[in-house]
Amino acid sequence: MKKPLPILGLLIGMLLLALAGFAAFESERSIPPQQTPVVAPVRPSTPKRVLQGEKMVALMCVHCHRDPSTKTLSGRPMPDLGTDLGNLYSANITKDPKFGIGEWTDQQVVTLLRTGAGPDGRPRLGMPRFAYLTDEDASSIVAFLRAENPLTRATSLPSHPQEFSPLAKSLMSTALKPIPLVKHLADAPPASQPVALGRYLVIGRYQCYFCHSQSISTNNEANPELSKGYLGGGDKMLDDDLQVRISRNLTMDPETGLGKWNEAQFSKAVKFGMAPTGILHGPMPKFSTLTDDEVRALWAYLKTVPKIKNATPEDGAVTTK
Ligand code: HEC
Ligand code: HEC
Repeated sequence: MKKPLPILGLLIGMLLLALAGFAAFESERSIPPQQTPVVAPVRPSTPKRVLQGEKMVALMCVHCHRDPSTKTLSGRPMPDLGTDLGNLYSANITKDPKFGIGEWTDQQVVTLLRTGAGPDGRPRLGMPRFAYLTDEDASSIVAFLRAENPLTRATSLPSHPQEFSPLAKSLMSTALKPIPLVKHLADAPPASQPVALGRYLVIGRYQCYFCHSQSISTNNEANPELSKGYLGGGDKMLDDDLQVRISRNLTMDPETGLGKWNEAQFSKAVKFGMAPTGILHGPMPKFSTLTDDEVRALWAYLKTVPKIKNATPEDGAVTTK
């Protein structure tokens, strides 16, 4: 019996944030926790935003939301999230007004992305939060979800109801809450500031840190760099065949991290899943559409991250699984 950890981890993470983050949030702004926070107005759709949104959705949303039978973003069962919280399903996020998000306002979509809170206040378990997305990137995602596209085509298929475990239910009626809004950038740093841009890509746009730190349960979504074992790898997750995969050390430690890699090797690994250590498996995405500026920025930023010594299986480490 596999004991997948990410979802339990996510749950504990949400719990800790609910307790710590929310206390701080509430005292700072005195907003009652049930109230759905109000995000900045969403920027209008432009062809450029639709294109940027298409790229981000392909890299960050399609894997979980694409239904192989409809070939649209109408949702699917998510056994790869594990079963600690029950049987989870991603939702229909096509333009369908009844079953999809056609009638959600743009701000409701962005609130969900940033905090995990739906318009009804119910936290969406299993849906990652993109707290640090820039306003520009969030607006681009919305622009794409509203655009004419085979993926977003209105699909009248209800989202499968979640089958929560007793653990999930008890936690949802007590401490499990969406995360507070954090202060984020309006626009991504320019390519001429590669370290700043790379940092944004790692904690905001692509959330590499979320999978590549010690454990989702100890990630700090409000302060990603304070996550335990930040970018040192070692988190256990499931691939599409429900095999356990362990994320890897992205710090520049020469023995257990990327210290002996060069930028070209890094680029091939991140874009095409071809690492010097061999072919990479899911859930590591293939970031095939990254621009050269993005790869350069990621590499420049990773060079500034404090090194961690943490061996994972490809370094010959034996896991106690
Ligand atoms: C790891 C898998 C995963 C990824 C990645 C993911 N989602 Fe989700 N998403 C879910 C799950 C699971 C739910 C359903 C949660 C629930 O209903 O409790 C969900 C729910 C949603 C909802 C709420 C729909 C509703 O009717 O309640 C929206 C909107 C959404 N996702 C958009 C996105 C977007 C946009 C992206 C990419 C930026 C994305 N998701 C990435 C798993 C994922
Ligand atoms: C959904 C989780 C997830 C996300 C998001 C993610 N990764 Fe990964 N990554 C993994 C896993 C799991 C592995 C190991 C795959 C395997 O075992 O084959 C991995 C492997 C790697 C490797 C190979 C390292 C080595 O030592 O062989 C690199 C490089 C890498 N990821 C970089 C990134 C970067 C950069 C980002 C963000 C742009 C990122 N990853 C986002 C899960 C993720």
